[in-house]
Amino acid sequence: MWLPLLVVLALIFLYRWYRYSLILQNITDKYVFITGCDSGFGNLLAKQLDKHGMKVLAACLTETGAENLKKEASSRLQTRILNVTNTESVKSAAKWVNDIVSDQGLWGLVNNAGIATPTAPNEWLTKDDFQNILDVNLLGLIDVTLNMLPLIRRACGRVVNVSSICGRVAFLGGGYCLSKYGVQSFSDSLRREMAHFGVKVSIIEPGYFRTEMSDCKHFLEHVRKSWEKSPDEVRKSYGQAFYEKHCQAVTKGLLKTSKKLYLVTECMEHALTAVYPKTRYSAGWDAKLFFVPLSYCPAMLQDFLLPGN
Ligand SMILES: *[C@@H]1O[C@H](CO)[C@@H](O)[C@H](O)[C@H]1NC(C)=O
Ligand SMILES: *[C@@H]1O[C@H](CO)[C@@H](O)[C@H](O)[C@H]1NC(C)=O
Ligand SMILES: *[C@@H]1O[C@H](CO)[C@@H](O)[C@H](O)[C@H]1NC(C)=O
Repeated sequence: MWLPLLVVLALIFLYRWYRYSLILQNITDKYVFITGCDSGFGNLLAKQLDKHGMKVLAACLTETGAENLKKEASSRLQTRILNVTNTESVKSAAKWVNDIVSDQGLWGLVNNAGIATPTAPNEWLTKDDFQNILDVNLLGLIDVTLNMLPLIRRACGRVVNVSSICGRVAFLGGGYCLSKYGVQSFSDSLRREMAHFGVKVSIIEPGYFRTEMSDCKHFLEHVRKSWEKSPDEVRKSYGQAFYEKHCQAVTKGLLKTSKKLYLVTECMEHALTAVYPKTRYSAGWDAKLFFVPLSYCPAMLQDFLLPGN
């Protein structure tokens, strides 16, 4: 009774494994544009794809970031300064890419640039705090995507968006989770539209990883600033003890982050080089075993497992 079922499951598993193990030929002919290559996932991905022979066009926010990356990569890799919140900067980057790739088109766009601060309980934040994050993580990503799509359609290429498990289960205050939820929603609509053009769209959902973005000191600094600029009434209601407990919880959470950034960049590379890329990749055991399953659970259970800060 159970044996046929197990055999069927094993066959499905083998088929999936085989299907996803197929890698494209000629990846060395292909151009990939990556945003946010100064540090973290973008930086690692740029070096990894460069090592595997792809033609990497790496966008950095700062000159220093670009110079450091160049030193560590082959002469194939080209860098460009890009501020995703600045439409002029995005347009001129798109033109730069267009001149390089010309008729061949752009094979891959990796929307990786992002910020995570200020993140604090919602009531300690202002509209501007939300806007700053949304400008980079969501509107910047949309602007880059819209400007690059003609080049991607030309190559029947791939778009890879970096979201987060926060886009599924919002357990932090501030604009970060909102922005990642927006990325998921934008990706879903784009994927359906782009299927018509043979363009594939994938979302990467990393769990907790330790990058410069999630640097503890930097994070706490923003929490402190948000707390200090909160109205007196708010500070009185929450109380100093709450603030200190919150900082401890943040520190504890960030100490648990994984340093295995390659788990994320391997998913990105698969999305760019596999014959059949997946629609969603979850990276890290916390994402796979806790947050993704939790996102399908009833709100009552989510609230029980993720108490307020
Ligand atoms: C790979 O590149 C070679 C030489 O550039 C070409 O002859 C071949 O058709 C390409 N294969 C594919 C699958 O595009
Ligand atoms: C990016 O562009 C925005 C809008 O033009 C500007 O306010 C911001 O200071 C720029 N950031 C950097 C790091 O240049
Ligand atoms: C990536 O995100 C942007 C903006 O949210 C969206 O327009 C695009 O469709 C997404 N692409 C993929 C492949 O998810």
